[in-house]
Amino acid sequence: MSKQDFLSLLDFSVEDLDYLIKRGQRFRTMHAEGQIYRPLVGKTGALILQMNSTRTRVAFEAGFAQMGGHTIFLGNHDSQLGRGEPIPDFAKVISEMVDVVMIRTLNQEDIESLAHHASIPVVNAMSSLLHPCQLLADIQTFEEMRGSISGSTVAFIGDGYNMCHSYINAARQWGFKLKIACPKGYEPNADILASTNNAQIVDSAQDAVTDADLVITDVWSSMGHEGQEGDRRCVFGNYQVNEALLDKANKDVLFMHCLPAHRGEEISETLFDDPRSVVWVEAGNRLHSQKALLEFLLLGRVE
Ligand code: CP
Repeated sequence: MSKQDFLSLLDFSVEDLDYLIKRGQRFRTMHAEGQIYRPLVGKTGALILQMNSTRTRVAFEAGFAQMGGHTIFLGNHDSQLGRGEPIPDFAKVISEMVDVVMIRTLNQEDIESLAHHASIPVVNAMSSLLHPCQLLADIQTFEEMRGSISGSTVAFIGDGYNMCHSYINAARQWGFKLKIACPKGYEPNADILASTNNAQIVDSAQDAVTDADLVITDVWSSMGHEGQEGDRRCVFGNYQVNEALLDKANKDVLFMHCLPAHRGEEISETLFDDPRSVVWVEAGNRLHSQKALLEFLLLGRVE
């Protein structure tokens, strides 16, 4: 089996993405039933996080352990990468020792360089450009609750950053309509936006949520925006998702947030208590979807 990387949703065919979503749903059921399934006995995964993480790290480590494998966590100060070891050298060394590597770093080019030089699968655990693993969990969550997302309308409210970019890629792959509301100057990458007719920027958050089946937001200051928090609170003031905004969407709309969240900023203080919010199921699906991804990268399709 030749190695496959997951740096972007565009790396996989739509058929393989749909397989992963169904497989993630299967993992969720198996987990709920307490089934033991250990296809990764003898396998080792390395997790390189140059920035903080709760969900991505726990999903990787718990998922690997539940499937019988072992993980090695390398924070920014744990490996020689933190002291300038060249990524091509690191890639060749780690390929001799482990079976898969997952990396979070701001620089997408570093992830691409690692993938280019490694002979094992490389997974993007989030860069400033993309967050494809989060999208597997989000699409899985929507489809578990509402059926196929194809043909639906999704509203993205907020910064045109990594989550917005991955939603544009998702709209392209799964065939849904994406309406993006963002302040002027905080639009998504023009090339990514231009890559599909399924995504468009609209004039306001109210425009975006009209007819929406799913509403998404993210923090106003992501990792990489340190020091800009005060300015961004002013700029993004009209882009809070709250109960009144969700009232303008479709009656059965769902709300998701990749977390962590800042209550009182991009969401109202009480939004997570609203029955339309499914953020805890979404977070749990980080585990199940990431298990599906790791199984697929290491063993291929199993059903
Ligand atoms: N959503 C997400 O990626 O969470 P973490 O930053 O905690 O991994």
